[in-house]
Order: sequence, then structure tokens, then C-alpha cells
Amino acid sequence: MAYLLGIDIGTTGARALLVNERGTVVAGATEEYPLYTPQPLWAEQDPRDWWQATVNSVRRVLSAAGVRPDEIKGVGLTGQMHGVVLLDEKHEVLRPSLIWCDQRSQAQCDWITARVGAARLIELTCNPALTGFSAPKLLWVRDNEPAVFSKARKFLLPKDYIRFKLTGEFASEVSDASGTSLFDVRNRRWSDEVLQDLGIDRSMLPEVYESPVVSGRVSGEAAQLTGLPEGLPVVGGGGDQAAGAVGNGVVEPGIVSSTIGSSGVVFAFTEQPSLDPKGRMQTFCHAVPGKWHVMGVTQGAGLSLRWFRDHCGGPEMLVGMSAGIDPYELLTQEAARAEPGCEGLLFLPYLMGERAPHLDPNAKGVFFGLTGRHGRAHVIRAILEGVAYSLRDSMEIIQKEMNIPVTQVRASGGGGRSALWRQIQADIFQTEIVTINSTEGPSYGAALLAAVGAGFYHTVEEACHAAIRIVERTEPIAENMSLYEEYYGIYRDLYPALKPSFDKVTQIVTQH
Ligand code: XUL
Repeated sequence: MAYLLGIDIGTTGARALLVNERGTVVAGATEEYPLYTPQPLWAEQDPRDWWQATVNSVRRVLSAAGVRPDEIKGVGLTGQMHGVVLLDEKHEVLRPSLIWCDQRSQAQCDWITARVGAARLIELTCNPALTGFSAPKLLWVRDNEPAVFSKARKFLLPKDYIRFKLTGEFASEVSDASGTSLFDVRNRRWSDEVLQDLGIDRSMLPEVYESPVVSGRVSGEAAQLTGLPEGLPVVGGGGDQAAGAVGNGVVEPGIVSSTIGSSGVVFAFTEQPSLDPKGRMQTFCHAVPGKWHVMGVTQGAGLSLRWFRDHCGGPEMLVGMSAGIDPYELLTQEAARAEPGCEGLLFLPYLMGERAPHLDPNAKGVFFGLTGRHGRAHVIRAILEGVAYSLRDSMEIIQKEMNIPVTQVRASGGGGRSALWRQIQADIFQTEIVTINSTEGPSYGAALLAAVGAGFYHTVEEACHAAIRIVERTEPIAENMSLYEEYYGIYRDLYPALKPSFDKVTQIVTQH
């Protein structure tokens, strides 16, 4: 039997997933690493932690699966998008990576927009400049740490740093490159015009491939560290959302995914680049060659629940550890004790600012409607519901404003694994939610891309059709739908009402 390896450099940890040539998952291993928030609006990780976690998770998955290294035929890489890794002339990491949810670069976004021109920027890159994207982060380093920037010779995205460590190649692929603000998304290549306007040297950027194309081979040194065979092909792979979409079979019109990982994403396939004139939805290249996608991103989806777990979930962590149960499972069990709508307690999941639909780094998390009757179960359930309301915002824009057809919604990530969160999504989106035979998402999609690159399938679509099938359907409950509809109206009113206060709070906090 032949095997393919998917490696996902997530926000929480690195996951290595071994899949056989027919697309059946054989084994997986995850190694966590820290996320640093040294100042308000900042979010950083150490790329060396990603590499160490990759080495450990690959070693663990190989020993758990008990396959011979020569049976592995390809590697696909995926990971959190937009993060900036800067390397010096010796190819050493210069500073911690500013990652996707870092929000410090609004001034740089304004500068980029003024410099290129708002309309021209959208024409060239299909998107406005957002604090979530890479170029503003890169320019933040230029503006605030000139000594560091002057030493920078290469800029890489998170998974592409891992590619460099595995193969020695400086390479990326179209889906992740789309999230840099430097990429001509329509023509699937770096935009010379944007690079020139921003004064970024082309030599800093990696080569760009289509996602299933071989971009390099595992070096002798990396082979020794990981246990992978030297010369193993590594395909382009994809940003976590595009690779996750492949892993969910979102490779044809009408199928839309709702993925709740650290971020929450509504993702729709498109045959051509389709633009939201207000820039709330991102338009990026898909990991399917010659195709595109749109997506709306909630910054703090799973991150909101992780925040609760880390700061208030002590009991679940303890019980989970001693009984071998995932603390998130215990948290959602507790949430199920509260009734739909949480007796008027609403949560705005803007812990990391918000992208879709507000495009506002200053937005903050909010619990609204708290009364003496509310307890822990309500608070946890309100988090699950608030994330779903936020995803509904994106669903509405995609369907009703951009007229992109939605015939089926596939739930994945933590929101797909939890029966309660699936039901909440079905009730709030007012649609059937389906789940597929794999819950792995990005790492699974990366392994399928590797299967295409290694020649087991002719196309990404063929790989998805062979490997993916629907296993479960969740229908909306009429009574919940109408209740949530009323609360969704209030949810939508809250952001505009609070916006001036979000700005004032940000000003005070960043000044002191
Ligand atoms: C997508 C995005 C997030 C990150 C982390 O634009 O910012 O999905 O990739 O998951």
C-alpha cells in the first residue's frame, strides 16, 4: 500500500496525518505550541516551534502507523495563512512571526491603500488591504523595526517555512499567496505593480506553484530529523482554508463549507474570481488549479471557546485529563444544559477584532444581556451561538448579495465534530448541515493534494470524489429557527451600536 502525508501548521499545533492512497486515514499526531500576545492587538508565534512540532508529530505518526518510510509517496503542506516569517541571509528566523490574527497593522493598511489606490488594489489583488493579511504585517516590521527589516532577505508564509526546512526550497502556492496583498489573484502570480508600489523586492518572495504540483523534495538533513525518506516529493499544498475545502470536497459550485477551527470560515467554490465590492468576503485562488473561492472569516471562532477553556475551563481540563476526555467535549456537554437562545444572553466573538463582515481590528468580544439567572452553561452556549451568528453574516453576503449558489453546507472542524454546534448552525443558518467521512479538514486536504501530485489521481476533483462521502445530516428545528431569527436581529444591531465604544477603548488601552 502507498501512503501520503498531510502536515498542517495550525494556530494551536502542528498535525501530521497519514492517509493511504485510497484516502483512508491511517494515523494522526498533533504537537501543540504556544501563542504569544505580548501587547494588545498582537499575536505571535515562533517559527522554530512550528518546525520542532512538525518533526515530533511526523516522527510520532510514522511510529504509530508502523509503515515503512519507502511506502510514503508524497507530502502536502497546509497551515494558518497570512503569517510573516522573515529570514536573514543565513536563512535564520529574524523575529517571531506576526500571525494571521495579529491586528497591529491598521496604519500600514491605510498606507498600502493610499499608495496603490483603493480601487486599483482590489483590481490587482481582488481584495482590500486588511490587518489580517501579510503585506501590512511585513510593512509594520519595516516601519517599526527597521534594523530587523534591513536584515530580511526572505519572507515566507507559515507552511512555506516548513517547506523550506523540509526541502531547502523557497516556494509557495497560489491559495496561500492570495492572502498576502501582494498577489495578482486573477492571474495567479505575484503582482509586480503592487510590489513596486510598496517597495518590496521580488527576491524576498518565494516561487509560486499550483497546489498539487511538486515544489521540492525532502532533503537528507530533514530526512534524518523526521524519519521521512530523502527525495520524497512535497507538493505546493494550500492555505488551511483552501486545503480544508479540498478535504471537505468543496470543489464544485453549490457546495459551501462552514469550518470552525481557531477561526471560523464560510467558504464557497467559484469557477471565476467573484468579488464582494465592499471587501468583506475574501476572493482567493482555490487549491484546485484554475479555480477560485470566496470566504468570510470570523477571527475568533474556536479561539473564543479556547479562551473560555483556558481561563474558565479549569474543571473540564482536570476531569478531561484524568478521564482521557477532550475538555471541549465536556464544555459542549455543559452548554447543552442551557436552552436555545440562552434566555437572551448573546455573545459577539470579536476577541481578535473582526474580519467579516465588519473589517474592524478594534472590535471586541462582548457578552450582552447577562442577568442573575444566567450561569456557566449559558455562557458557553452563548459562545457557540455567537460564532454561528457571525458565520451567518458571511453566509448572507455570499448567498444574497454575491448571488453565489448554496445547495449544500458542509460543517467541519470543531463545529462539525460537536452535535450541539452542528444543530446550532443548522438552526441559525436555517439549512440542513451535512458532515463527511473525514473530520480532518486541512491536513486531509493536503494529503489528497499530495496524492494528486504523486500521480494517484489525475485531478483534485477526482481525488475528492474517490475519497469523500456524506455520512450525517442535521436538519434545522423549526421552533429554534424562529427564535434564533429574532435574536440574530439583535446580534446584528449590537456591533454598530458599540462601534464608537470599541474605538474609544482601543485608544485608551493602546495609549497606556
Ligand atoms: C484565513 C485566516 C484563517 C487562518 C487561520 O484567511 O486568516 O483561517 O488561516 O486558520
